[in-house]
Order: sequence, then structure tokens, then C-alpha cells
Amino acid sequence: MGFSDYRTALVTGASSGIGAATVRRLSAEGLEVYAVARDAARLSALSAETGCRPCAVDISDLNALAALAKSAEFDVLVNNAGQSRRGNILDTTAEDVDALIDVNLRAVLHLTRLIVPGMARRDRGHVVNISSIAGHYAFGGGNTVYHATKAGIHSLSQQLRVDLYGTRVRVTEISPARVETEVFGRLLGDLAEAKRRFFDDYDALQPEDIANSIAFAVGSPARMNVAFMEVLPTQQVVGGLNFAQKSRPPAE
Ligand SMILES: NC(=O)c1ccc[n+]([C@@H]2O[C@H](COP(=O)([O-])OP(=O)(O)OC[C@H]3O[C@@H](n4cnc5c(N)ncnc54)[C@H](OP(=O)(O)O)[C@@H]3O)[C@@H](O)[C@H]2O)c1
Repeated sequence: MGFSDYRTALVTGASSGIGAATVRRLSAEGLEVYAVARDAARLSALSAETGCRPCAVDISDLNALAALAKSAEFDVLVNNAGQSRRGNILDTTAEDVDALIDVNLRAVLHLTRLIVPGMARRDRGHVVNISSIAGHYAFGGGNTVYHATKAGIHSLSQQLRVDLYGTRVRVTEISPARVETEVFGRLLGDLAEAKRRFFDDYDALQPEDIANSIAFAVGSPARMNVAFMEVLPTQQVVGGLNFAQKSRPPAE
């Protein structure tokens, strides 16, 4: 299996960043791509550029997901849409917990249960889940709920491969480190500030790097399942250990 065996793809989070780059790449490979995000205007511009089918949908809306899943027999499902939030569990709101679980995890599980059984019946398909290094490592500055949802993506990707054992449906998890997208701008509510703080002085990955990683997995021969890829900027590493000193007794 490779691109020539697949005809259709559904990509979530398609209005910007990794998702938009993936729509461009998969469309260029000849797939009919259904591009999903909330921002209809951006999807319409992407459609004019690539020929993709724009689907303005909030993926936390289960009815909308069910309708979307019925719109075609999808060969490729790229679960990419995601959000993050500032702070950690010590200052996270109830809304933050619910929104991150709804978008980053719940929607992925629903789309998987709605679309993958058809792939299994047809004995053809490829699921690509975008997790994050946050799902695999603990580090300062990360949002606890975001880390937990991305760990969930890792776990469901592992188990999905077991569920699909015996079929020719492949499951790929791609775990990126820092990619220059709007994710940090959305977090701060200020794209220019995010660019200054997270990208101007760092050689981050570009969205195309992850789109190309997805294309490598999807375009691989049928015998080959790229199960997991961790993709980091060359100048970024994961590691480090913190050890707080014992507190000294207060002076008398
Ligand atoms: N950038 C990084 O450094 C990095 C690192 C590791 C993992 N990731 C992961 O990569 C994925 C893509 O993010 P990105 O970096 O490309 O960021 P991005 O540019 O902010 O893209 C996020 C996409 O998700 C869509 N989205 C958010 N909430 C949605 C909702 N409720 N319904 C439908 N679509 C929704 C957004 O579109 P609308 O606003 O139009 O809905 C947008 O298209 C995410 O899962 C993220 O966690 C990113």
C-alpha cells in the first residue's frame, strides 16, 4: 500500500500549521482530502489553493463528527487538531480540562470508532495520530492536561494497532517537539509575542517537516507500518532532572 492505493483522506486541524501543510502534501499526492477545522474562511482559501473539500466543523461536536464520518469512505485519517493552555494543574480551570480532553482526546476516540471499522471491513486504511513529546516526557512549562491528553493519544495508538491486528490497516503515531505554528500564539493570545518568544531565536521544525513525516509513513509499502516517529528540531533535546534541596529548619 502507498499513496496510489489510497483515494481519500480526512485531516483535522486543517486551517493552519501542521494540518494545513498535511492537506497540501496529501492533495499533491492525488488524494481527495477533507479538511476539517472551525475557521471556514481559512478552509475555503485552502480549498481554492489545493482543491481540498472544506469541512467547517468543531470536533468537540459529536453529531458533527458522526455526519462527517458518513461523508466518504476514508482511506487515511489524520487526527491532528489540538489545543493547549497556559499553566499547569495548579491553576487550570474546569473549562480548560474539558476543552483539552474534548478536542485532543475525545474527538480522536470518536473519529476512530466512527471511521476505522470501515477501514477494517475494506481491509485498507491508515490512521495517523499526532501526539507530542509532551505525551512521553515531563518537563517544566508544559500544561498538565495537555500532557495527559497526548499520553492518551500514545496509548490509544498502541492499542489500536492491536485491535487492527490481522487487517492491513496501519496506525502511525507522530510525536513532534517544537514546530513553528500558531499553537503558541493561540496560547498567549498574541501571535507576534509567540513568534518573538518561541521562534525568533530558535531553529524550530516547520509544519512541512511533519507533513513530510506523515507522507513518508502513508506512502510506505504495504508490508511496512511506521508505528512511531519522534521528530525534534536538531537543536532541541529532551532530558534533565530536577532535585530540590531539603529545606533547612527555620532559624530560631
Ligand atoms: N507546534 C508544536 O510545537 C507542536 C508540538 C507537538 C505537537 N503538536 C500538535 O500538533 C497538532 C497541530 O497543531 P499545530 O502546531 O499545527 O497548531 P495550530 O496551528 O494552532 O493548529 C491547530 C489546528 O487545530 C484546529 N482546531 C483547534 N480546535 C479545534 C476544534 N474544536 N475543532 C476543529 N478544529 C480545531 C485549529 O483550527 P480552527 O481554529 O480553525 O478550528 C487548527 O487548524 C496539535 O495536535 C498539537 O498538539 C504541535
